[in-house]
Amino acid sequence: MILVTGGTGFIGSHACLALAQAGHELLILDNLCNSRADVVDRLQRICGRRPLFVEGDVRDSAVLDEVFDRHRVTAVMHFAGLKAVGESVARPLEYYDNNVHGTLQLLAAMRRAEVRTFVFSSSATVYSDREGHVYRESSPRDATNPYGRGKLIVEDILADLHLAEPAWRIARLRYFNPVGAHESGLIGEDPRGVPNNLMPFVAQVAVGRREFLNVWGNDYPTPDGTGVRDYIHVVDLAEGHVAALDYLTREGGLLTVNLGAGRGHSVLEMIQAFEKASGRPVRYRIAERRAGDIAQFWADPSLAKMLLGWETKRGLDQMCADAWRWQQYCEGLS
Ligand code: NAD
Ligand code: WQD
Repeated sequence: MILVTGGTGFIGSHACLALAQAGHELLILDNLCNSRADVVDRLQRICGRRPLFVEGDVRDSAVLDEVFDRHRVTAVMHFAGLKAVGESVARPLEYYDNNVHGTLQLLAAMRRAEVRTFVFSSSATVYSDREGHVYRESSPRDATNPYGRGKLIVEDILADLHLAEPAWRIARLRYFNPVGAHESGLIGEDPRGVPNNLMPFVAQVAVGRREFLNVWGNDYPTPDGTGVRDYIHVVDLAEGHVAALDYLTREGGLLTVNLGAGRGHSVLEMIQAFEKASGRPVRYRIAERRAGDIAQFWADPSLAKMLLGWETKRGLDQMCADAWRWQQYCEGLS
């Protein structure tokens, strides 16, 4: 059985489907601070089996010990955490507590239970843009905010742990920009309040929930002046997790890989693709650059292809079509 922390969230819920499809039994642990319990019902509708669900916090060692005592967990995928960069600047203690202390509590409980296979949600945010915009796993790392620093700290803790106790099998997966939704349209990203990320904002403008999108800057040194990112379909990302788990089971060790598509799209390209997929206009205004943004970056995904035999299969049109199907479903949720 795989313990999926944060399994009712955006990426975790898609990972649950990919894991179920690969034949794994699942136990989700989530405190629902950024997701809804009925995601579990929808997971059951899609895959025909109901994952076990425990409402609880990864910082709560009593809950963790009970989970490990009661169930034969063989590996942990750790998605639980807070993820808003701006909020992390305003509330650093909450971010370090959830994302760093939470991970330490989880690792300690795993060690008590003698479970030593761990897949961690890292991020392209750990890369520094000092040496160009194609990020390889060996590229220099840096952090400019507490969210990113938390990811760096956990990455380093995991490396130290593996050095001290080589029996651990650990994957540090660096996601680029996850977007889209499952093709069923039943699960997806449903941010609370004003979305920070581009795609959910675009989808909310298309559906009529918001009037227009602010495009943060059109004077970057990119082909059309707007920011360029490596958008990855969340189902491709989820499949990357299954491939990483298979790799750890086969090879062991400490795995660090980029999960990205290996090419970039600009903000204006994303808007156009979404208009095409939805048949709706996406009104926008050009605004000042957003503090902390950089012009462009994308992954070198070749290591994941070589080690895991994994690469992305779903392109921009599918990302937008699936996000649009989900957005329409989402409007009907209370
Ligand atoms: P999400 O907010 O949709 O999912 C996170 C889930 O964890 C939510 O269901 C939330 O309720 C739960 N959670 C948060 N703190 C918890 C705690 N202390 N105990 C138990 N549950 C808790 O976010 P997501 O986009 O699915 O991100 C998942 C992971 O991937 C995060 O670690 C995030 O930092 C990382 N990541 C996300 C992105 C992205 O752009 N979405 C990119 C790179 C890395
Ligand atoms: C994408 C592009 C914006 C919103 C963030 C985190 C990163 C990772 C993924 C977790 C940029 C532009 C956006 C809007 C816009 N998360 N934009 N108007 O900034 O690449 O990465 O999410 O690990 O850590 O920093 O993603 O979706 O916010 O922005 O013009 O309303 O869209 O300027 O060029 P980003 P994003």
